[in-house]
Amino acid sequence: MRILFIGDIIGHPGREAVATELPRLKDRLKPDFIIANGENAAGGFGITKAVADELFAVGIDCITTGNHWADQKEILAVIDHEDRILRPRNYPKGVPGKGSGLYETRRGQRVLVMNLMGRVFMDALDDPFAAAEAELSACPMGEGADAIVVDMHAEASSEKMAMGHFCDGRVSAVIGSHTHIPTADAQVLPGGTAYLTDAGGCCDYDSVIGMDKYEPVQRFIKKMHGARFTPASGPVTLCGAFVETNDKGLAVRIDPVRVGGRLQQALPEF
Ligand SMILES: [Fe+2]
Ligand SMILES: [Fe+2]
Repeated sequence: MRILFIGDIIGHPGREAVATELPRLKDRLKPDFIIANGENAAGGFGITKAVADELFAVGIDCITTGNHWADQKEILAVIDHEDRILRPRNYPKGVPGKGSGLYETRRGQRVLVMNLMGRVFMDALDDPFAAAEAELSACPMGEGADAIVVDMHAEASSEKMAMGHFCDGRVSAVIGSHTHIPTADAQVLPGGTAYLTDAGGCCDYDSVIGMDKYEPVQRFIKKMHGARFTPASGPVTLCGAFVETNDKGLAVRIDPVRVGGRLQQALPEF
């Protein structure tokens, strides 16, 4: 299976870049399934139904999120009826939405997507490792799903890497999101799980993690809240990862994807 994972899409500039670049990426990579993190897709904070529909219309099959999933309150009325939008699975019981989904690809394969959130330097949610364990025992790869992709939304690279090893051999890929900065450690772990600490964001990198740089810098200098943050509007780098799996669901390759904007470009060679 060929899977494209797209990192946090930041506001209108991020969405526009995804809409522009995705047709070319689809031509080149021929993905069977496309996952994107949409927690910042609406003005930099949260996601709405209209924004999600826009992302589905350009070819994204499943939207994962993170700590910003409910920043736009209107999503609370939508998320229980929209199977293609996930929030981190390890929120307390009773919170709207769900943390995993089983989908069918264009070629009829089953892919399980699981969204988890870390607890280091973040809100103290339920244990993401226990959540992963529960999900994998309910839907083991090869039985319940032909491929399994985990979006590990976390601040600490240590916690993400630990999740990679925890899932190694049991899922196709563990890919990190949330920091909006792509890391250079794409690898297939010894057990056959593709791993990348952070996919990076889809944003203008002349910014502070995708936000117009003035206000964030002021906030660090003055330790006071000034104006609200807005997405930086310069040329966007679409960041993500391409994963290919074998008939057991294990990864045979993972390649970084970076197209457009200021960052060094990266595309898989075939
Ligand atoms: Fe984010
Ligand atoms: Fe986040």
